[in-house]
Amino acid sequence: MNYENILSEFDSGITTITINRPKKLNALNKATIAELHEAFKAADQDKSTKVIIITGSGNKAFVAGADISEFADFDVDQGEQLAAQGQELLFDYVQNLSTPVIAAINGFALGGGLELALACHFRVASSNAKMGLPEVSLGLIPGYGGTQRLTQLVGKGRAMEMIMTAMMVDANQALAYGLINHLIAQDELLSFCESIARKIMRNSSVAIKAAIKAVNANYTDGVNGYQVEVKAFGNCFGTADFTEGTTAFLEKRKADFPGE
Ligand code: COA
Repeated sequence: MNYENILSEFDSGITTITINRPKKLNALNKATIAELHEAFKAADQDKSTKVIIITGSGNKAFVAGADISEFADFDVDQGEQLAAQGQELLFDYVQNLSTPVIAAINGFALGGGLELALACHFRVASSNAKMGLPEVSLGLIPGYGGTQRLTQLVGKGRAMEMIMTAMMVDANQALAYGLINHLIAQDELLSFCESIARKIMRNSSVAIKAAIKAVNANYTDGVNGYQVEVKAFGNCFGTADFTEGTTAFLEKRKADFPGE
């Protein structure tokens, strides 16, 4: 499929989606969010894609936020709709994908950019990355899940300070906060993420899908994550991947998972 604002490339089990508006520091306009939805959906439905990596084009920005020029004249209803649609199409959508999604943060990840990274299953950043939720400097608050996901990840006090001050944290501080899992030199960022993806690919995609669902259950209102885990654990025993994984272990060979 041809996109105007993003690139989606498949190689050896990995789909890499690149937000490609470098002149606007990859800011998320409506069209880009719609294309990202389509690209994530296509990759998730593609059986040969085992891991998705999302990054920004150029060496300056992952995503510098939602496109401010698009919402500067919005009213209350339009503002609420902007947040609701964005969360449904992209942010909640990515969090709940069954294919693992790694954010490769290659520069500024601000506002909606950090929120996109927060919606991914985990994050790796290059040493030049800067992260923050500067919305209050525009008279706004984060609207794509940032108040929730940043708090879940770094804790209430740090999230409150980051949001209230509109400060940017550098990659070292983000690492100390647990906001990113790894800090890597910029020219090695993608290859490092690909090496993690290859480790993921050795394992059962069916089990990984169940694990994502169980972990996410902890953050879903009214859902008991322990019960989701028990059920999902039991279901694994009915999968071909379980049969292959345990048989391979007992036969002292590497598992060749059918992904079923
Ligand atoms: N929305 C729309 N356009 C944006 C943008 C955003 N969130 N972030 C950057 N851009 C555009 C700039 O308007 C500029 O466009 P122009 O060349 O047509 O004028 C271009 O991207 C380059 O940005 P610029 O500000 O010139 O780069 P810089 O290196 O001086 O500053 C930032 C980089 C990230 C500090 C600065 O762009 C910034 O503060 N961006 C907004 C961050 C933000 O508030 N995000 C939350 C939005 S809710």
